[in-house]
Amino acid sequence: METKIFKIQSSDDTQAIAEVAEILKNGGIAAIPTETVYGLAAGAFDVKAVENIFIAKGRPQDNPLIVHIADFDSINELVSSLPDSARILAKKFWPGPLTMILPKSDKVPLVVTAGLDTVAVRMPSHPVAAAIIRASGLPLAAPSANLSGKPSPTNARYVIEDLNGRVDAIADGGDCSAGVESTVISLAGDVPRVLRPGVITVEQLRSVLGDVIVDKAVLSQPEKGAKVMSPGMKYKHYAPKAKITIINSSLERYIEYINENATENTAALCFDGEERLMPLKCVTYGGENDGMAQAHRLFDALRELDEIGAQTVFARCPSSDGVGLAVYNRLLRAAAFRVVYLFDE
Ligand code: TXA
Ligand code: MG
Repeated sequence: METKIFKIQSSDDTQAIAEVAEILKNGGIAAIPTETVYGLAAGAFDVKAVENIFIAKGRPQDNPLIVHIADFDSINELVSSLPDSARILAKKFWPGPLTMILPKSDKVPLVVTAGLDTVAVRMPSHPVAAAIIRASGLPLAAPSANLSGKPSPTNARYVIEDLNGRVDAIADGGDCSAGVESTVISLAGDVPRVLRPGVITVEQLRSVLGDVIVDKAVLSQPEKGAKVMSPGMKYKHYAPKAKITIINSSLERYIEYINENATENTAALCFDGEERLMPLKCVTYGGENDGMAQAHRLFDALRELDEIGAQTVFARCPSSDGVGLAVYNRLLRAAAFRVVYLFDE
């Protein structure tokens, strides 16, 4: 199919926004920018269009989608009940990079939720995303706009690389600010539970909700056949072609490890400012103590590693506090959970 590409700099680009909205209203699928990563959107009540998202991405059918809204009241037709915790979180963090899992209404098709009785809802803060949702008059089901298994795209160039010819439209709204996907919190159980960390941190969620559990799948590999709360967490994800190993150590030990283990096609994934110390090709992903910059850079860095032809990659290990938890969660999956721990003697 031919993919129409629209440059949309701001929500004032009403003509292009109306065209993308029209495509969605007519059952098409379109990639749109959000503040986290690009999403591949379809009208959430249109079963055929949602099925086409799964086909375009090559996404496993048991992995549910997030439904995006632009106004709080739109949540009412998506959920069967709305706990106080959801209202509190919405007031504090919406619009923004937070997704809430809630009991679904009958109106949400099972193809969106992959058969689950809960639905994921998010109100993005990106003005172009909000404008497209409003212009379409629809809640939009949208996973990240990458081919399944590849890093989520944080700019339109990578969306085009993955999806050109497979979707009806791509709205190019420039770079995404956060760079990792939204924090996913389930409010469907007794205690709120973080299923996927993001730039809205566990600490921030606890400060408004009190007790919040972090699901064990955030930092560990699910056992084969185990039931997981968030199906997305069980797949090998965000993976470049290169085989990544995370090296949890000091900078000195990391460099020693590289000197002992690197081969011709090894590259380093290190922090800003460490380039000049690296004895081989390297890609950087933010400052060592700057979780936001790491989040912003990580997925681009993973794609750049492919572009420079890296076959094996030794990665510096991020902190797992604050936003770092989101960075570590993604990098762990990109590395298929390979971590080498080296401690100073
Ligand atoms: O920032 C984001 O969340 C981006 C932008 C486009 O909004 N979207 C995104 O979608 O990352 P996706 O499909 O790549 O990730 C959605 C995650 C998956 O891990 C999925 O398993 C989980 O949310 N999820 C969706 N519905 C769920 C449900 N009902 N119960 C548990 N997990 C759910
Ligand atoms: Mg995704």
